[in-house]
Amino acid sequence: DMGGHDTYMHKEIFEQADAVDRVLRGRIDDRFSTVHLGGLNLDAREARQIRRVKILGCGTSYHAGMIGAQMIEELARIPADAEPASEFRYRNAVVDPDTLYIAVSQSGETYDVLAAVQELKRKGARVLGVVNVVGSAIAREADGGIYVHAGPEVCVVSTKCFTNTCVAFALLALHLGRTRDLSVRDGKRIIEGLRRLPAQIAEILEQEEGIQKLSEQFADARSMLFIGRVRGYPVAREASLKLKEVSYIHAEAYPASELKHGPLALIEPALPTVAIVPDDDLLEKNRAAMEEIKARSGQIVAVAHQPQEKADHTIVVPKNEDELDPILMGIPLQLLAYHTAKALGRDIDKPRNLAKSVTVE
Ligand code: M6R
Repeated sequence: DMGGHDTYMHKEIFEQADAVDRVLRGRIDDRFSTVHLGGLNLDAREARQIRRVKILGCGTSYHAGMIGAQMIEELARIPADAEPASEFRYRNAVVDPDTLYIAVSQSGETYDVLAAVQELKRKGARVLGVVNVVGSAIAREADGGIYVHAGPEVCVVSTKCFTNTCVAFALLALHLGRTRDLSVRDGKRIIEGLRRLPAQIAEILEQEEGIQKLSEQFADARSMLFIGRVRGYPVAREASLKLKEVSYIHAEAYPASELKHGPLALIEPALPTVAIVPDDDLLEKNRAAMEEIKARSGQIVAVAHQPQEKADHTIVVPKNEDELDPILMGIPLQLLAYHTAKALGRDIDKPRNLAKSVTVE
């Protein structure tokens, strides 16, 4: 039942405020400015002994893991990074006993992720799951974890599960942070930010009409560039994947800082750029990148917290705490991908050549 929506993708995009409410529910502990994560199976002493965090996932789940790694570094000050599970499992990676491994998966059945988990467990590592489907293979195989509670996701293209996975990582980062050296004050700040998310998501979704108009301009683009830096970069990666999957328009994501090392050569009026421009320490740097693009007559859409002079169009999103901004900045770009695909008459819920869960090698 699509409840009045024309596709599951549209329905699931619009379910995100409620979905985020669900991942937060019952987990916030205001007394200690932290969160409780019942299924983690990681006591405080163990949490303090972690030396590194390695996050593994594929596709959209990998991108959520990139955001999660940044949150864990920022809030818990533990070195963290994300890698495609499909790469990790084939490279005879060094498995280290002081590293916490985290497997991310909507379905909990993606074979590359499951195989990575099994290999890690075989070598004695501790593996947590950040999974949506309760009781799925990866959830069962992991030592513990966090359920993402996005609810059933039917569209092959993941939207609400991405957002909820990012929120689940924020909860984990906060928990690890408060078990280690994150202050009560920062804990409170993040909790307040988390509580603002559902209303801010609703606010973003109200801009659908404007985003639809914008999408129609892009329907005839042959290729698009997505740029961001640090917190904005995984958002650019995910937005580029969304557009590719559902509209079949070629898209590439690049760190804005790397433009001058090559991709600037591509800039011309026919290659539109989407720039992720959060109002954080890197705002001026991002403005400079947009200026470089403008100087070469490239069209720019910015996703930002205030209108950007250098952009032809800005999608303004509400500001949250710096660490949580990436959760919100991708949401208008889900709508951009959806409406571009719709303008092109694509099969939105079942893009060609793709399956909802990839359970084969
Ligand atoms: O179920 P999983 O999260 O493990 O799936 C991983 C990828 O196959 C998945 O995210 C894929 O990239 C989606 N089609 C993204 O929209």
